[in-house]
Amino acid sequence: MGAGIAQLCVEAGLETVGREVTPELGEKARERIGHFLTRKVEKGRLEESERDAAVARLTTTTELGDLAGCDVVIEAIVEELGPKLQLFAELDLICRSDCVLATNTSALSVTEIASAASRPERVVGMHFFNPAPLMPLVEVVRAERTGDEAFDTAYALGERLGKHPIRCHDTPGFVVNRVLIPLLNDCIRVLDEARVSPEDLDAGLKHGAGWPMGPCELVDLVGIDVHVRASEALWQALREPRMAPPPRLVAMAKAGALGRKTGRGFYRY
Ligand code: CAA
Repeated sequence: MGAGIAQLCVEAGLETVGREVTPELGEKARERIGHFLTRKVEKGRLEESERDAAVARLTTTTELGDLAGCDVVIEAIVEELGPKLQLFAELDLICRSDCVLATNTSALSVTEIASAASRPERVVGMHFFNPAPLMPLVEVVRAERTGDEAFDTAYALGERLGKHPIRCHDTPGFVVNRVLIPLLNDCIRVLDEARVSPEDLDAGLKHGAGWPMGPCELVDLVGIDVHVRASEALWQALREPRMAPPPRLVAMAKAGALGRKTGRGFYRY
């Protein structure tokens, strides 16, 4: 997600600092962005010079301190509250006082994440959808103490990145995941109930309900671990049985079959 969001930023003409935990991961992200922009050149949707200028707008680093000069920081780290709280406490000290701190969390409480900052009014949710460069939506999430200035900045940034932003409040799963996560969980349960193969389930939803990709393909794309954590967060918050992650996904997550990113999920990549 981080690389996808960084790609949007450099394409929109913004000087961008991408922070990764190792230089190798930073380089991988740069290569990924270069690859997709080159595909756009090959398809005649981008000039070569525009691609080169976009790639040049990206700096990668492993140092949080290099975010000190940023106007906006968009966090897209692991979907766990502890590491996010620690990161926001650090960003709060490092970043300029007028810097907006956004979280791309998919199902955790933005209000809780904001509580790590000394000025929670500058914290807002900016929830992108996977794959971020292709999916038009961004949910701009107002937490309990988000200030108007931070909210408006995040909304305007969403527009600048070419997205269709929608405004919502900080409720479990916000708008889309409140609906999509239990629906995907239902789909995965149907695998066992109807004794159908992932291929047939995917064909069913694509050809019978007009989905652009099947549920198994989609969970593989999102990441089995990310989906399981988001389901757990919704289950904790709402206690609706459909929110609880299906055992089959929990087992896959434990086995490291996380979908596309590990080369194996419902499918092999
Ligand atoms: N950046 C830029 N371009 C990219 C890209 C990226 N990251 N990833 C793929 N592309 C390009 C590819 O290069 C490809 O072009 P080429 O084949 O010519 O190289 C082009 O996009 C189209 O790729 P596809 O052929 O795979 O395109 P498609 O027509 O099948 O559409 C899709 C792909 C948009 C992903 C579509 O299948 C879709 O809408 N799927 C549903 C996705 C969805 O529901 N996402 C939400 C997940 S839930 C979530 O994200 C919430 C959460 O919190 C977890």
